[in-house]
Amino acid sequence: MEKKEKFTEELVDVHGIPLLRSIAEAWSQVEGFEARPDDLFIATYPKSGITWVSEILDLIYNNGDVEKCKRDAIFNRVPLMELIQPGYTNGVKKLGELKSPRLLKTHLPVELLPSSLWKNDCKMIYVSRNTKDVAVSYYYFYKKIKIHPKPDSWEEFLEKFMTGKVMFGSWYDHVKGWWEKKKDYRILYLFYEDMKEDPKRELLKMLKFLEKDLPEETVNKILYHTSFEIMKENPTTNYTMMPEDEMDNKISPFMRKGISGDWKNHFTVAQYERFEKHYNQQMEGTTLKFRSEI
Ligand code: A3P
Repeated sequence: MEKKEKFTEELVDVHGIPLLRSIAEAWSQVEGFEARPDDLFIATYPKSGITWVSEILDLIYNNGDVEKCKRDAIFNRVPLMELIQPGYTNGVKKLGELKSPRLLKTHLPVELLPSSLWKNDCKMIYVSRNTKDVAVSYYYFYKKIKIHPKPDSWEEFLEKFMTGKVMFGSWYDHVKGWWEKKKDYRILYLFYEDMKEDPKRELLKMLKFLEKDLPEETVNKILYHTSFEIMKENPTTNYTMMPEDEMDNKISPFMRKGISGDWKNHFTVAQYERFEKHYNQQMEGTTLKFRSEI
């Protein structure tokens, strides 16, 4: 595929969700994606830990073989299904070329998933993260990704985030939508904060969900290799293998802080108060609860 220079793209609504224009224009390909019964989908709202969970799962699938998991960058080992940019990348096509059993990732809200996923009753792991840390992480991501227009300020970005005018739309609708769907489908719903608190407990939940056993020693090895510190140094997980004209890691590294509660360094008191009020309105009536720090 001939490579074009990266450019900034505007967002266009697809069934009410803001997505890149190139994805909107190729939407029939995403809708027509052919899932296989043994596919495992990893889903998150952006900046909620998809890279972390993808690396854990690739290591689980490869029985802790670290060298095997360095075969390619994480974004090629576990491609983002809906990412289609003609002349540059096509997630649907990339996945079509992968051998089963496949690991796939998506940031789509649950209502936009291709119907073949439900027909094949695919297993899915959803990871959510408290909204304030997601907003901060997304802000830095927006600043360094060529495809997104640069936010003028944190204040401006926060406003867009709260009103769902960012890529993949409203965080509130995303986490609630998946939370409801798990009642009827094979979805393991995890929290970033739980993974920070006790990564081993959460890894064991994943193994149980996959009906897979691994020796204790392999589990510990996977935990070591997926710690923030090790993933930050690993070129296949820290996104330094992505060309600089697409993602400028000098503005902010992909493996930025990896903590819970960094929002406290960014929200003013006034922003916090407004945000909490809006949050309570948006999350009213749901049984879904988040921890903003651990
Ligand atoms: P921060 O920007 O808060 O540091 P995603 O992979 O969904 O894009 O999410 C990226 C966020 O997950 C970043 O958050 C990144 O630092 C964090 N992250 C990635 N790997 C991690 C790990 N092994 N442990 C903890 N956090 C991790």
